[in-house]
Amino acid sequence: MADTERADDATICARPAPERPSATRPVSPPITLSSVYHVADLAQVDAIYNGEERGFIYARDAHPNASQLAAKLAELEGAEAALVCASGMAAEAALLLSCVSSGDHIALSEGLYGRTVGLVGKELARFGVSYSTFDATRADSLRSALQPRTKLAFVETISNPLVRVADIRGVAEIAHASGALFAVDHTFAPLLCRPLDLGADFVVHSATKLIGGHSDVTLGVLLGPKAQIDRITQVASTFGLTGNPFDSWLALRGLSTLALRVERTNKTAQTIATRLASHPRVVRVNYPGLPTHPDRVVTERQLTQGAGAMISFDVGGREQADRFIRSLEHIPYAPSLGDVSTTLSHPTTTSHRFQTPEQWAAQGITPGLIRLSVGLEDAQDLWRDLDAALGKV
Ligand SMILES: Cc1ncc(COP(=O)(O)O)c(C=O)c1O
Repeated sequence: MADTERADDATICARPAPERPSATRPVSPPITLSSVYHVADLAQVDAIYNGEERGFIYARDAHPNASQLAAKLAELEGAEAALVCASGMAAEAALLLSCVSSGDHIALSEGLYGRTVGLVGKELARFGVSYSTFDATRADSLRSALQPRTKLAFVETISNPLVRVADIRGVAEIAHASGALFAVDHTFAPLLCRPLDLGADFVVHSATKLIGGHSDVTLGVLLGPKAQIDRITQVASTFGLTGNPFDSWLALRGLSTLALRVERTNKTAQTIATRLASHPRVVRVNYPGLPTHPDRVVTERQLTQGAGAMISFDVGGREQADRFIRSLEHIPYAPSLGDVSTTLSHPTTTSHRFQTPEQWAAQGITPGLIRLSVGLEDAQDLWRDLDAALGKV
């Protein structure tokens, strides 16, 4: 027990540190890790919950770092509002859990990220949600996938690993004519175009990838109209899907160099893809910037800011892929993408591992396929590593 005016040691230790008034403001945004905020009184709590006063109460609902990241991304994507979620999958889950009910149907484009298909085909299926697939590069194919209860069409701007380019405007027109919403996973293509301007209702990013840019963040973002994002924010908080302050802060920091990284990796990827295309050990190269790419017309019309950092190429078979991976000196086999340094992935043993050889064949995914995520290295240094490893295939 304290017996003087001085508080007891236990009290001094337990109380929050006093705020330090400052006439200046930090240049770098502070990380606000607090999970809860000190509310002045009952009038203030009511005012904040009713949206009459700005403020944070509980970090799962909202916090300054997510709010800053959301504002910046909304400006970049031309969105009214954005919600920061715990991962790209959390952002997709928040969207789907908010807009579909039992008995509803979703139209998914072919070749989506495996967990997205699993979220709909395995998890939402348990709640009576069904789906069909269509080819997002041929928007017309959506017509035969639509059903009376289709609530949402979902595509990726650039697909993985074959880097096919969705016809966003075409899909938007057909989806809207049938009364369905339309969402675009823009993870592979930030800044290359703005899906909302092309008619999408929602954009999703795995900020774990290019937005974060340094392989040290797991975060997702959902962008769209304010009224709907406000409602989805409630759903995301209820399911516990929202993002944390530290990752939001890191993603905001990563975002500050995104435009430069995109500009640079567009150029380097174009150079590397062109060289791979004429390499005798390479069977096939997929890159939207190559004249041989099957979606060249949509790419030119739609990806006005470049063809992106993702290339896939076939070295002939699983054994050749293994030898190639082991022979690389600097490029690691690391099944993610979007890092400042170049990484590669091998789809049939990672992202598409749980599909059958028949499913791979139907999509054109082969055991010799390598997916390269081009980083910021000098193109010549990268090529030296790739060329030397190809020589050993
Ligand atoms: C295209 C795409 N969308 C969504 C996701 C999911 O993102 P996250 O890993 O942040 O949940 C990934 C992850 O690899 C992805 O590649």
